[in-house]
Amino acid sequence: MRSKPPKLIDVSIESIGSDGIGVAKVENRTVRVKNALPGESVSARVLRSRKGEWLSEALEVSRPARLRVDPPCSYYPRCGGCAMQHLAYDSQIELKQQRLLDELSAVGVQPLVVDPATLGPRLNYRTKARFGVRLVDGQVLVGFRESFSSRVSRMDGCLTLVAPVARLLAPLQRLIAALSCPDRIPQVEVAAGDGSSALIFRHLEAFTEPDQQLIEEFAHTHQVKCFGQSGSVATVRPLSASARMPYLGYGNPDYGLHFQFFPTDFTQVNLAMNRMLVNAAVNAFKAGPGERVLDLFCGIGNFSLALAASGLQVEGLESVASAIDRARENALRNRLDGWCEFAVRDLYDPACQDLGRAPYILMDPPRSGAGPNLQRWVQLGATERVVYVSCSPTSFAADASVLVREGFELERVGLFDMFPHTAHVETLGVFARRW
Ligand SMILES: C[S@@+](CC[C@H](N)C(=O)[O-])C[C@H]1O[C@@H](n2cnc3c(N)ncnc32)[C@H](O)[C@@H]1O
Repeated sequence: MRSKPPKLIDVSIESIGSDGIGVAKVENRTVRVKNALPGESVSARVLRSRKGEWLSEALEVSRPARLRVDPPCSYYPRCGGCAMQHLAYDSQIELKQQRLLDELSAVGVQPLVVDPATLGPRLNYRTKARFGVRLVDGQVLVGFRESFSSRVSRMDGCLTLVAPVARLLAPLQRLIAALSCPDRIPQVEVAAGDGSSALIFRHLEAFTEPDQQLIEEFAHTHQVKCFGQSGSVATVRPLSASARMPYLGYGNPDYGLHFQFFPTDFTQVNLAMNRMLVNAAVNAFKAGPGERVLDLFCGIGNFSLALAASGLQVEGLESVASAIDRARENALRNRLDGWCEFAVRDLYDPACQDLGRAPYILMDPPRSGAGPNLQRWVQLGATERVVYVSCSPTSFAADASVLVREGFELERVGLFDMFPHTAHVETLGVFARRW
């Protein structure tokens, strides 16, 4: 029988996981401790038990490690939005790089060159977030989930969010408290573009007339577009007059581009890092003008348009039809429609094994990786170069081993710190054909 975890325990931290969580052993049981570093002795509060492990957070540290720093945010470590604010930033980067190299080494892939990590803003970088909403003792909380918990953090601001969105948190709590059904709003999503922001209220009950009026006033006062979502993403509707012009936008001045997107579209979370990532990806192609490049998992055309602006002929494929609509609109707005074509394709489907001649491929797949057709794409397309943008070192390594088996070498790989203070690892890998 599993014993019930104690509320508090004193432990010595032996190591740190790739998720930034300290690891200790108590009588052969693994205890994961947020806000704790190797070598430290800590007093930790146990929050829950999962698969025989105790998940906890350090409350007091008696012998702080040399790498410990004061977290910039006062809601850390309780707020689960960040995992590593207590660790010196250089060490966060080392940890992420080590994770990437360990994953590659586990599948026998050796990069020829490991580029120095590309770094950008460490705070106020995040343009998207999903906040939980809870009514606790009559008080409305809007925030990230607490660590190892489904509870919502008590927070009035966030240092990782871009300022215009972070500023909305406290007024948003007051707004929801004034609505007729605060306990029927489980979640609010936020999205920010270069000049404007949007909120999407997930609501389980229809808003009343007075609710709509309050939301309209809020939208006007805070210059934000407000949307309601009563069910699936297809049910998103404008709630404020400003949301009838639904688009947000971001620029990529390096290529003279401007993108429009709908708040529910996928966009890269950190726009400053996105520019560096796009630049690195485009420069990694040694393709001549007019050469055909496939942009797989292309979203709204973030990479496609930069490739097209560099003179390449781009075909962008993506499974979400609305993203493809946006990619086409963005190509037109930027007068690059003659250089790009877009189509809706489920790239995991067996029907997508043959994508035609594809000497150059850029891919930026979801966490699950490139999918089962990768081997066929590079075989049938006589591919010479693959530029791979990844948000998961595990699937990146698995796909890298497929490419190496198919005759590619990992010419270079580098970390792009898209999500500082969290354990997310964003990577750019460049594969070149050896034989
Ligand atoms: C990491 S995002 C990259 C989007 C885009 N490259 C960008 O920079 O904004 C991954 C994209 O893959 C798409 N996707 C997920 N599964 C897919 C599939 N099976 N086939 C095609 N696209 C898929 C998602 O809709 C999403 O747009």
